[in-house]
Amino acid sequence: MKILFLDQSGKPGGAELCLIDIAKPYGDRALVGLFADGTFKTLLQQHSIPVEVLTTQAIQVRKQSKLLPALASLILLIPLLIKVVKLAQKYDLIYANTQKALVVGALASFLARRPLVYHLHDILSPAHFSQINLRVAITLANLFASLVIANSQASQQAFVQAGGKSELTAIIYNGFDSKNYQVSDAEVQKIQAELELTGKFVVGHFSRLSPWKGQHILIAALAKCPPQVTAILVGDALFGEQDYVKELHQQVIDLGLEHRVKFLGFRSDIPQLMAACNLITHTSTAPEPFGRVIVEAMLCGTPIIAAKAGGARELVEHGVNGFLVTPENPRELAQVINTCLQEKEIMTTIANHAQSLASKNFDVAIINQQIAQLLQKVHNKMAY
Ligand code: UDP
Ligand code: GLC
Repeated sequence: MKILFLDQSGKPGGAELCLIDIAKPYGDRALVGLFADGTFKTLLQQHSIPVEVLTTQAIQVRKQSKLLPALASLILLIPLLIKVVKLAQKYDLIYANTQKALVVGALASFLARRPLVYHLHDILSPAHFSQINLRVAITLANLFASLVIANSQASQQAFVQAGGKSELTAIIYNGFDSKNYQVSDAEVQKIQAELELTGKFVVGHFSRLSPWKGQHILIAALAKCPPQVTAILVGDALFGEQDYVKELHQQVIDLGLEHRVKFLGFRSDIPQLMAACNLITHTSTAPEPFGRVIVEAMLCGTPIIAAKAGGARELVEHGVNGFLVTPENPRELAQVINTCLQEKEIMTTIANHAQSLASKNFDVAIINQQIAQLLQKVHNKMAY
């Protein structure tokens, strides 16, 4: 089967990293069509996945956009749509990985008479999207998609609650290759020395810098922790959230934490950095659709504290394979960090348990098989 994957982003967020794992087994039978140029294209090339940037014109529909600008940008999509319709003739199936990809993919699926699969990486709720964006996504998915792959129960439930047809959905978690998360002690020591973290209690945060990812919650919590607790913030503002970055730096200065917070920017050595942390925190203020970083922390054998909402509740059982805290509550987060600081043995037991569970439950080979079976079913059903 030949698959045309579509993704709007030029930068590698979680949905894009997940797409790499899904597209890779198809080799030359896949093409990833992007709606923006950038480092994601380079990453796909490094993985030998065929990729083409289909437009360089920025598509302006924002997560919170209103009706008129949304319609205006639909008109701008026409040249892109024509390209995708032509390309789709050479493929058996269109696989839309993001919302704008769904818009283009849905229309192209109708015009090119190819089945459409929508990989839903978002919680389609008012906490994340405007009413108009929600309506467009649900309507197009209901009308044109043969299958909606939700990245968690939380995303599936929000889809159905917003009017999506539940019979279209299948829940498939992101997959990971646990080998990629095995880090040697020598690597850990090297990175700790490079970052001057040796001897400190290091709390990591791995996420793009964005208000809803809640880095400010960790900084506020850090002010309530003893001085040996240091934080590394790994990630960059991928989608233009520069004001938030400034606010974070100001918050660090206001709290006098300049020597205890390091901003590392976007990094490609996530497993090594995660293994060098004593603890990893996830602090999203809106429900996290899935939360790759939570599973990655587990695979690295580093204890995770996650915000209790959305997909995180499916990944973490409090006190068993990690910890859950109330979102947007720095005091509670600080309390749990302080407990972890004192209870080193319990932490190791929990982290080891999490590591072995995660490598079984999120095995990329098994997850790719499940996806392949679903795609084959869609393909078999469609007579064209
Ligand atoms: N990530 C990365 N480099 C960074 C920060 C994050 O490669 O500097 C990766 C991280 O390891 C994870 C992904 O980006 O695999 C983020 O996915 P997640 O599902 O946690 O959140 P998203 O940003 O997709 O909402
Ligand atoms: C999205 C979600 C994130 C999820 C990722 C992969 O980017 O925000 O929670 O882990 O997709 O499915």
